Amino acid sequence: MNVEVFLTSNNLTEDDVKGRTVVVIDVLRASSTIATALTNGARAVVAVPDMAHASKIASNMDQQSYLLGGERDGIKIDGYHLGNSPREYTPETVQGRTIILNTTNGTLAITKSRAARHLLVGSFLNADRIVDFIRDAGLDVTIVCAGRRNRVSLEDTLCAGLLLYRLWEGKEPAVVSDTAHIAFTLYANDKDNIEAKVRCGNHGQNLIDIGFEEDITYCLKTDSIPVLPHYHENQLVLLQREEEGK
Ligand code: MLT
Repeated sequence: MNVEVFLTSNNLTEDDVKGRTVVVIDVLRASSTIATALTNGARAVVAVPDMAHASKIASNMDQQSYLLGGERDGIKIDGYHLGNSPREYTPETVQGRTIILNTTNGTLAITKSRAARHLLVGSFLNADRIVDFIRDAGLDVTIVCAGRRNRVSLEDTLCAGLLLYRLWEGKEPAVVSDTAHIAFTLYANDKDNIEAKVRCGNHGQNLIDIGFEEDITYCLKTDSIPVLPHYHENQLVLLQREEEGK
């Protein structure tokens, strides 16, 4: 199985994802928000790259059926129902609704990966399910870290490393891509100290500054939400265990 890792989605092309299992990671916070919304009963999440797409999709829907969620600079977008803190996406709020989600890096990376054979949204919260899926599907894999502001982000790279560490059962194969080696090595080095490292990272510091410190702890709870958000007919929905591998 060939495994490729993109540390940001900047240069991702259709050829990089076609025919492969693709896992998009935006730990802080879009991936974690999507897993939370779906596990709490949202009907689906529509990931959009920008404001214009969000407004267009909303204008074609019954007003009671959707919620607009998203952020710019980490803060809820004016006029939207929700920001991008996963802790806002409670069962009371999201049950039965479609979430139109518009974030700076995460939803953009998802829309760039649409040509994948299987497109999944991964995070620390659902790492186990993602690794099981990758194994069962048996296809080549592309892990796409959303990164932040066109740069590599520590938390997404660590999460990519966690997936590889589990996929390879803690032992790196002799020949791997450079970026897979970077992610694996970073995770192997920091694995007992993940939260402290992420809190000191650029995005961690930014979330602390704007009052979302609790999101960091929440988003790093490994395997706490064992769901598989996957892309189907232009939206993200939960893949049930019995459907895996089809
Ligand atoms: C993003 O997509 O850029 C994020 O998830 C940013 C955030 O909400 O912290």
